Amino acid sequence: MSFAADVRAGLSHHPKTLAAKYFYDELGSTLFEAICKLPEYYLTRAETEILEHHADEIVDCVGTPIELIELGSGSAMKTRYLIDAAFRRQPTLQYRPIDISKSALDESTSALREAYPNLSVDPHADDYLQGLRRLRRDNGQRALVLFLGSNVGNFDPAEAERTLHAVSSTLRNGDAVLLGADLKKDPAILHAAYDDPLGVTAAFNKNILLRINRELGGHFDLAAFEHRAVWSAPAGRVEMLLVSTQAQRVPIDRLGMSVVLEAGETIHTESSYKYDAGQIETLARATGFEVVQRWMDSSGGFSSNLLKRA
Ligand code: AVI
Repeated sequence: MSFAADVRAGLSHHPKTLAAKYFYDELGSTLFEAICKLPEYYLTRAETEILEHHADEIVDCVGTPIELIELGSGSAMKTRYLIDAAFRRQPTLQYRPIDISKSALDESTSALREAYPNLSVDPHADDYLQGLRRLRRDNGQRALVLFLGSNVGNFDPAEAERTLHAVSSTLRNGDAVLLGADLKKDPAILHAAYDDPLGVTAAFNKNILLRINRELGGHFDLAAFEHRAVWSAPAGRVEMLLVSTQAQRVPIDRLGMSVVLEAGETIHTESSYKYDAGQIETLARATGFEVVQRWMDSSGGFSSNLLKRA
């Protein structure tokens, strides 16, 4: 579905929702990069620590020569540890990033081409499922599919299974998946990571309304919404919400509709699921994989899991 159709459906739904994949326009991608640098947002640093220490081991577990396919590559900064490890074992390398954000993809592609003259980059500006469908696997090399950064956490359990199934169906024997999954932990740590005192995550969340204003002729007053992050223990996820601070009616010109909100009414914009080891194994098994190795950061809060077809 298009942005317009998804916004119409989500804001007509009760409770109201907007899909998290629409955070990532140019400003949203820049705000996400800023989130990754926040002291409270531990995820990026934790995964970087794992890749910095274990990239060689990870590549050796798959065996070379390989190609790298990445779902949700963003700035691809962490990927460089794996690119470096692959280049220590083979003279050339193909890297195929799939990302919904064309601006992030354009920037990372030109930065990588400049940094690695022997890297061939084949970017796909798409959502994961479309991007995977469009990939042509014809060079006969093993693939290591990178699904990093807890991106899997933004899918509800059924969507996570569907996505890993789709990954599984593009893989051949010997290929592998590196799955970065954030782990369940003290709710106070989770809350701070998704509601930072500088307000960057609040800006990232509200930017989705700005995007509707810009692209669909919406009239959202951003000052009439508050950012909220809530840990739901039963669901095992952090929920990001936009809370209407007053009763309001907001026209969206290009959709020919008005959104009516009560004071205190919420728009759900993102779920960020947190896993435990058993849940990662269950997800792997349900999608035809097994976890062959797991690495953790020094705080024990984040895991990188190497999955191979069972
Ligand atoms: C991209 N994704 C894994 C982030 C997360 O942690 O769920 C998006 C994010 N939302 C708020 N902060 C970061």
